[in-house]
Amino acid sequence: MEVEDKLLNIGLLVLLTLVVVKLISLILNPRSPTRLPPVIATWPVFGGLIRFLKGPVVMLREEYPKLGSVFTLNLFNKKITFFIGPEVSVHFFKASESDLSQQEVYKYIVPTFGPGVIYDVDYSVRQEQFRFFTESLRVNKLKGYVGQILRCLLKLSGEVDLKYELENLITLTASRCLLGQEVRNNLFEDVSALFHVLDNGMLPISVVLPYLPIPAHRRRDKARKKLEEIFAKIIAERKRTGKSEEDMLQWFMDSKYKDGRETTESEVTGLLIATLFAGQHTSSITSTWTGAYLLANKKYLSSVLDEQKNLLKKHGKNVDHDILSEMEVLYRCIKEALRLHPPLIMLLRSSHSDFTVKTREGKEYDIPKGHIVATSPAFANRLPHIFKDPDTFDPDRFAPGREEDKVSGPFSYISFGGGRHACLGEPFAYLQIKSIWSHLLRNFELELVSPFPEIDWNAMVVGVKGKVMVRYKRRELPIY
Ligand code: HEM
Repeated sequence: MEVEDKLLNIGLLVLLTLVVVKLISLILNPRSPTRLPPVIATWPVFGGLIRFLKGPVVMLREEYPKLGSVFTLNLFNKKITFFIGPEVSVHFFKASESDLSQQEVYKYIVPTFGPGVIYDVDYSVRQEQFRFFTESLRVNKLKGYVGQILRCLLKLSGEVDLKYELENLITLTASRCLLGQEVRNNLFEDVSALFHVLDNGMLPISVVLPYLPIPAHRRRDKARKKLEEIFAKIIAERKRTGKSEEDMLQWFMDSKYKDGRETTESEVTGLLIATLFAGQHTSSITSTWTGAYLLANKKYLSSVLDEQKNLLKKHGKNVDHDILSEMEVLYRCIKEALRLHPPLIMLLRSSHSDFTVKTREGKEYDIPKGHIVATSPAFANRLPHIFKDPDTFDPDRFAPGREEDKVSGPFSYISFGGGRHACLGEPFAYLQIKSIWSHLLRNFELELVSPFPEIDWNAMVVGVKGKVMVRYKRRELPIY
């Protein structure tokens, strides 16, 4: 009996010691491994890569119902933790740069934009360069751009692959407003060709090894240099003649850092390249989806046409910034096309400090420093608890009374990102796409003759697969 008591006491002592040790360890190190996000089950070594390459959105569709809104993928020595839905992506969008930064994950873009700009500079300098962007896209500037866009559109004619034509129109209009009339009038072909080379120099391998000495990278570097020479000449000529233009090039030339330093020619070139990269494919893809959905949905096409007729009645043929703002039905159609097809399907950050996220269900996860954190507009924009019948094209979901993107709070609709790094070009993108579509609908009768397009998941900026053939007849939209 005495031996049994002794054993019991020893047992209790051991148990007590274990409890105390556990408590001390919890106090000293509150993160228990069970609070890490669940991990996607994959084969060892290459499993994560294979799942990712099969298509990140396919993977999210499969894993979200099983694992919930926060989960991790092991990709070799990296851990990518996905935040899905506004309740958790709020951390992604609102975190400070010192906690979640862009620089490391978007470093591969540096050779394309060139040295001294955006992801090649400290956050404080980058913020100043983004200030130049913001100022150059203020409403009073945008007002001037509308006329320039419309003058480019007047020349449109011929039978068309809508995708190709819209790419061209976006390049033309963006070149005029942003790069200036010298490029638009005399150097358009050369500059477009050089941008095309830059584009082709951004391959999936470039994300991992941006400086790998392959022909595509060598051509990219040469094109970047040539662009700088072209812009240096334009800048020198404007300075020599004292001529000042209404375009982004001029704005970047005249911008100054807080310490009074002027922008260099290389920086101006880099910022212009960055602008076209940010805004060209994204806007042309969105224009194409908008057109495809409108031509395939007679109900919405006729609502948009009615809106145009009313505006023609009210303002005649004039289109300016304020009249574009009245095109609410068209705006909602573009926004809905973009909800279904955000060209940037995955947004990334690199985590520099440990933090905790809380899911909609109240579960808490610890995200350790060193993880790559990702969120996906392509997946999150179709969450059924936020958007009713999420796969259906239904622009009225944004109309007063429904406003599905607002009901569930900010970060429900993330085609333009949000928070700290929200897209700076959103107003310009709408201005451009609305100008183009109102012009096309007022002046042409259009019919989609190829099947409704599919998504090209293989592109870096995800767009439309193949051609989008449209038959058209010139017409004047009857007002009555
Ligand atoms: C439909 C067209 C567009 C879409 C869908 C789009 C989408 C986005 C998204 C998702 C981001 C956030 C990236 C991130 O969080 O990592 C972003 C950032 C940005 N966009 Fe756009 N964009 C469009 C057009 C434009 C245009 C036309 C411009 C310039 C004229 C532009 C300039 C920028 C800039 C400068 C940023 C960086 C903001 C920052 O990091 O603080 N975008 N865009």
